[in-house]
Amino acid sequence: MSVDVAIVGLGYVGLPLAQEASHVGLKVLGFDIGQRVVDGLNAGASHVDDLSDADIAKMLEQGFEATTDASRLAEAKTIVICVPTPLSADGGPDLGPVIAAVNTIRDNLKPGMLVILESTTYPGTTDEVVRPILEETGLKAGTDFHLAFSPERIDPGNEHFGAKNTPKVVGGHTPACGDAAAAFYGQFVDTVVRAKGTREAETAKLLENTYRHINIALVNEMARFCHDLGIDLWDVIAAAKTKPFGFQAFYPGPGVGGHCIPIDPNYLSHNVRARLGYPFRFVELAQEINAGMPSYVTSRAQNLLNLDSKPLRGSRVLLLGVTYKPNIADQRESPAVPLAKALADKGAVVQYHDPHVPDWTAANGSASRAEDLETAVSTADLVILVQNHREYDVDALAARAQRFFDTRGVAAPGEKVSRL
Ligand SMILES: NC(=O)c1ccc[n+]([C@@H]2O[C@H](COP(=O)([O-])OP(=O)(O)OC[C@H]3O[C@@H](n4cnc5c(N)ncnc54)[C@H](O)[C@@H]3O)[C@@H](O)[C@H]2O)c1
Repeated sequence: MSVDVAIVGLGYVGLPLAQEASHVGLKVLGFDIGQRVVDGLNAGASHVDDLSDADIAKMLEQGFEATTDASRLAEAKTIVICVPTPLSADGGPDLGPVIAAVNTIRDNLKPGMLVILESTTYPGTTDEVVRPILEETGLKAGTDFHLAFSPERIDPGNEHFGAKNTPKVVGGHTPACGDAAAAFYGQFVDTVVRAKGTREAETAKLLENTYRHINIALVNEMARFCHDLGIDLWDVIAAAKTKPFGFQAFYPGPGVGGHCIPIDPNYLSHNVRARLGYPFRFVELAQEINAGMPSYVTSRAQNLLNLDSKPLRGSRVLLLGVTYKPNIADQRESPAVPLAKALADKGAVVQYHDPHVPDWTAANGSASRAEDLETAVSTADLVILVQNHREYDVDALAARAQRFFDTRGVAAPGEKVSRL
C-alpha cells in the first residue's frame, strides 16, 4: 500500500484534510468523480475558499495527486469519505453520494484498511449503511478492516480554527477501530477526542449544528418582537454576552445558510420521526422561524419604502452581499436567494452587489448585477445589507443610500438607517 490516505470527495471538507495530511509528509491521494475538480487540482488550481492556488501547489510538491480512477483506492492504507450529504426532494436525508462512494471503496477494499466516514449524517449510518456494503466483500469490520466515524468540523473562512487546531471527535465500530482512527488523525490534528462509538460521534456533530440552528432561531424570533417593542436587540445581545459563563451570543439575520445549519438538523429530526414516530420539536420550530426570515425582511423592506411613500412594486432594491457568510464566495443555501425571489415576486426591481460573486446564477434571474457599487447604492430606493463583507465600508454606504436596511447590526444608527 503506497498511499497513506485516500480522500474521497475533494470539496470544502476533503481538501483541507488533504492539505494537513500532506503537510506532515503523508502520501495523499485525492479521489473525486468530478473530472474538472481533479484536473484543476492537478494543474494547481483551488476551487474552495480556504485554500489558495499556492496551497495546492505546495501540496502537489509534497506528493499529493488527484484522480478519478477508483481502482487506485486499493493502494491506500486509510480511506476517508468526505462526500456531500444533501437533502432529498422530500426533505429527508439523501445518502446517494455516500452510498456511491462506499460502493467504490467496497470494490477496492483490502484487509487491514481503515475506512472513516466524515460526511455529516444521521446516527446509525456508519453501522447500518456503510458497514453492510463494505462487508459484501466477505471482509468483516473490526476484524479484517477498521471502520470509524469522525465528524468534520470545518468552518469555511474561519481564520483561527482549521483542520489542525480544531479537536477531532472519533468513534470506532470497535474500540480497536477507534484506536486506529485516533492514531491516524493524531498524526496531523492537535487534539483527538474519543467518542464511545460511531453513533455517539455521528450524534455529536448533529447536536453541534442543531444547537446553532436553534439559538439562531431564538434571536431571529426575538428580532421580530424587539422591533415591535422598540428594543435594539443588538444592544441587548452586547449586554447579555458580558456574562462570563452560561451564555453564548448568537445574532439575528436574514436567514440561515451554508451546507450545515439549514440541512443537518433535518437529518436528525427526519431520523427521529422515521424511527420513533414522534417529532424533534425544537428543530422543526427553528426550521420554521429561520426559513421565515427572508419573507420577514421583505415585509420590513416594504414598510421602509412606505416611509418614503414608495410601493415595493417598481422600487429599486439593492442587495449587498449574497453569500451565506461574510468574506467568502460560498453561496450554498444562502438566504439571499429566497430574499431576492420574494422581493422580485412583489414587483421590486432587484439588483445585487457582491465582490465575491461575479455571476449570481443561484438567484435564477430575480436580480441583476450592479456594476458600480457607489452608483447603485445612491440610485436604489432601498439598500439592504444582507452580508457584511469586509470590503464594505458600511457607514459610508449607508450615508450615500436613500434608505439603508441593515440585517447584520453593524451600521451606525441614522435617520435613514434601520436595523433588523
Ligand atoms: N462545507 C462545510 O462547511 C462543512 C462543514 C462540516 C461538515 N460538512 C459535511 O462534510 C461533507 C462534505 O461536504 P463538503 O462541503 O466538503 O462538500 P463539497 O460539495 O464541497 O465537496 C464534495 C465533493 O465530493 C465529490 N463527490 C460527490 N460524490 C462523490 C463520490 N461518489 N465519489 C467521490 N467524490 C464524490 C464532489 O464532486 C465534490 O467535489 C458533507 O456531509 C457536509 O455536511 C461540511
